[in-house]
Amino acid sequence: MNDAVLSFSDIRQDFPAPGSDAGIRVIDGINLDVGIGRFVAVIGPSGCGKSTLLQMAAGLLMPTRGTVHHRGRAVNAVNREVGFVPQQAQLFPWKTLAQNVELPLLLRGVATAERRERVAAALDAVGLSGFERYFPSQLSGGMQKRGSIARTLVYRPDVILMDEPFGALDAQTRMVMQNDLQMLSHNAGATVLFVTHDITEAVLLADNVAIMSQRPSKLLANIEIDLPRPRNVFEPFKNPGFEDAYDAVWTVFRSQIGIRNQPH
Ligand SMILES: Nc1ncnc2c1ncn2[C@@H]1O[C@H](COP(=O)(O)OP(=O)(O)OP(=O)(O)O)[C@@H](O)[C@H]1O
Ligand SMILES: [Mg+2]
Repeated sequence: MNDAVLSFSDIRQDFPAPGSDAGIRVIDGINLDVGIGRFVAVIGPSGCGKSTLLQMAAGLLMPTRGTVHHRGRAVNAVNREVGFVPQQAQLFPWKTLAQNVELPLLLRGVATAERRERVAAALDAVGLSGFERYFPSQLSGGMQKRGSIARTLVYRPDVILMDEPFGALDAQTRMVMQNDLQMLSHNAGATVLFVTHDITEAVLLADNVAIMSQRPSKLLANIEIDLPRPRNVFEPFKNPGFEDAYDAVWTVFRSQIGIRNQPH
């Protein structure tokens, strides 16, 4: 037994493939441990199974082979103890922003006064104070995305799974959110498993960057990012050691993406 909060052991995933009897092997033997309080970023080519891994941790999908353990227990049903911000996270259109964010607290039986306080704090954390009564259709895409992040942060899960949470945000909001997430995960000691396409984002935020190969995917490397914190997400290159850390990840990752006219 190890002290990982989340542990993927020997994970394989096969899916049925439309028009073929054989099916498709998406993940082929992945082992990954996420230690308590660690921030682990997962990068890999599109379609390699990153979202699939997060769905397993959330208990929404059972692997074909292997097991995911959360705090030492096998995940074999929906895992309500982790916070999950899916890639296609959506707010309920018929509820206001505040009602959306309040929902997980209602489901957990949190008292009214505390609910109000925590919804206000979660909305403040994502820069949406003042929009409580807005319906999702009255918010921008980036604001909706931030609302869905607030809905996960509000119940203070000990493990947060985030699937490209900042992908749809404009560049400035993205940096602000990266900075806030860094502070939040650091101060709250939360454990984060974070999927991204963006190497700079991975290196800036993570303690470890796990690099997946193309399908059928394996883990190519799990690189420790030993840069001092807090890190400057606004000017990445000003972090001492950033360039070397980026290079270490890029050297492994470059083989997985088709690049023509590869620069030196
Ligand atoms: N429910 C499903 N049924 C059949 N195939 C699926 C299912 N879910 C995912 N797949 C397949 O599994 C592969 C991995 O999908 P996944 O969404 O995990 O990729 P990803 O790494 O998150 O990609 P992206 O970076 O584009 O989000 C894809 O080939 C996809 O077609
Ligand atoms: Mg995905």
